[in-house]
Amino acid sequence: MKGNKHPYIILSAAMTIDGKIASKMGDPDISDEEDWKAVHKLRTEVDAIMVGKGTILKDNPKLHIKYYDHNGYYRIVLDSTLSIPIDSNVIKYKPEVYPTIICITENVPLEKIKDFELKNVKIIKSGKGSRVDVVQLMSILYQNGIKKILLEGGGNLNWSFIKDNLVDEIRLTIAPWIVGGKDAISLVEGEGFSKMLDSPKYFLSDVDHRSNYVILKYKKGK
Ligand SMILES: NC(=O)c1ccc[n+]([C@@H]2O[C@H](COP(=O)([O-])OP(=O)(O)OC[C@H]3O[C@@H](n4cnc5c(N)ncnc54)[C@H](OP(=O)(O)O)[C@@H]3O)[C@@H](O)[C@H]2O)c1
Repeated sequence: MKGNKHPYIILSAAMTIDGKIASKMGDPDISDEEDWKAVHKLRTEVDAIMVGKGTILKDNPKLHIKYYDHNGYYRIVLDSTLSIPIDSNVIKYKPEVYPTIICITENVPLEKIKDFELKNVKIIKSGKGSRVDVVQLMSILYQNGIKKILLEGGGNLNWSFIKDNLVDEIRLTIAPWIVGGKDAISLVEGEGFSKMLDSPKYFLSDVDHRSNYVILKYKKGK
């Protein structure tokens, strides 16, 4: 469970009508320009944007802001074994505006860490298991002054946050496609809960729509 000393987490995603955040071939092109503008606006309001390694490998995003003036924020990547390419956009694109933090486990060799530190990447270790311990990570980030995070996926990282009830708010864009496919990534992947009553419940705080897109905002129940 989440204590007081954790960052506020906003999960943000664009998904198809059937809840997919990319096609089975990994096509992520779900948002239209209006949606990107809204997401970039949201990025101006947080201390950090967080994604999983899968999103870096598949999309190689810059995680920057195109439409607004701003002073930057941290880009945080969860990559247990520190294996994303060192020339990924999150490392080489504007590190002076968007410093990058990569969160790893205790098991990564020092030499590997040094290579990334030479590129001005900050490394944070959390957990001794096979994956980054997200609960412990939340306290570490909070202690480092990161109080508000936009969690931008993908589906497997979203599950880790939902499983541990760490998501405070959700902003979803539903785009007008049904793409199907059991191998297409859903908003939340992972093992899932057996019962509704065991899963975190959210309350609808806002609904908006324009052309064929619906924007939903949810907040966690008290
Ligand atoms: N439509 C949208 O809004 C949107 C947004 C973002 C992404 N996407 C799509 O989502 C897809 C990527 O999603 P994905 O599920 O494959 O990857 P992901 O969630 O981005 O990353 C998952 C990876 O993160 C690493 N990780 C480290 N610690 C973790 C932890 N505690 N819990 C979970 N993962 C952890 C794991 O790799 P290690 O075990 O090696 O560390 C894991 O395989 C892409 O196709 C992308 O286009 C869509």
